[in-house]
Amino acid sequence: MNVEMIPMSENRAIGVASSKLILVGEHAVVHGQPAIALPFPLIKVESSVQEIEGPIRLESELYNGLLDEAPTQLSGIVQTIKETLICLRVPAENLLIQIHSTIPPGKGLGSSASVAIAIVRSLFHYTNTPYTNEQLLKLANIAETYAHGAPSGIDSITITSSSPVWYQKEASVDYIEPKGTFYFVVADTGMMADTKSSVANVKELLKTAPEKMYGAVERIGEITYQVREALEKSSKKVLGYLLNEAQHELELLGVSNEGLERLIQFARKEGALGAKLTGAGKGGCMIALAQNELHSKQLSEKLKQFGAQAVWPFVLKNEHIE
Ligand code: PMV
Repeated sequence: MNVEMIPMSENRAIGVASSKLILVGEHAVVHGQPAIALPFPLIKVESSVQEIEGPIRLESELYNGLLDEAPTQLSGIVQTIKETLICLRVPAENLLIQIHSTIPPGKGLGSSASVAIAIVRSLFHYTNTPYTNEQLLKLANIAETYAHGAPSGIDSITITSSSPVWYQKEASVDYIEPKGTFYFVVADTGMMADTKSSVANVKELLKTAPEKMYGAVERIGEITYQVREALEKSSKKVLGYLLNEAQHELELLGVSNEGLERLIQFARKEGALGAKLTGAGKGGCMIALAQNELHSKQLSEKLKQFGAQAVWPFVLKNEHIE
């Protein structure tokens, strides 16, 4: 049973959901390989629900107005809200839903899944209805289907987890217990990543050059198994090497770009043990493994000066990311 919502008052409730990062396995996961994703609690979405008179209103950075007049880019969220209210047997009226997010959209940080999860949590809490993780994921994935076409589901599962997630389509989800402490730095290129089109481009490449491209997908799968072992054995240098290897394969799949490679190469030159893009690619963010805590602070500062739009240093240690 989930208890992550914070009660406000009798007729106001909030739901919070944090971000996620793919450590390794993006794109290959769409084609049956495993991926490892990390909950990333440094940035979050908060949804607040309260009673007002009249039709449902939505207030967010993207849109302020009636739910029924929301732009098509919010269709998934609208559908998630409606389905959640049906599930709660609550009429779709007399509600104000306010969304505040510190997760930049379109950067591979799970912003859309996080918004959906925060909203569902806030609606369940508003009606004082307990819910299971399964219900939460089902309702949030309605929005994800609109945002991504055919989402692998990794975003929502990771956002609702407190441990790194081992994810493979059609297999049950597994959770990883890393040994030791890993210092990462995430940096934003400032460019938008478009998951739908990069997934479609990879599919196209797999048709035109199947041998080479399936080779890259399979190699990413092997790397993902080795990354799990490196996390569980606290092998930092090996992990760094594997992140670089994964980046090489992602470049072959055509999902990297100049902006990402500029930050990745800079991070490596500044002593990162490894660095790669994270998420859909062709923009969005990269993730680098720093040598230690001090190095992660120095590297973050340098990446900022080098022009990264945003930089987040974070720590992964046994079951918790700080
Ligand atoms: O939403 P993003 O940018 O983290 O990308 C999702 C990862 C992909 O493997 C590219 C797509 C998917 O559905 O798994």
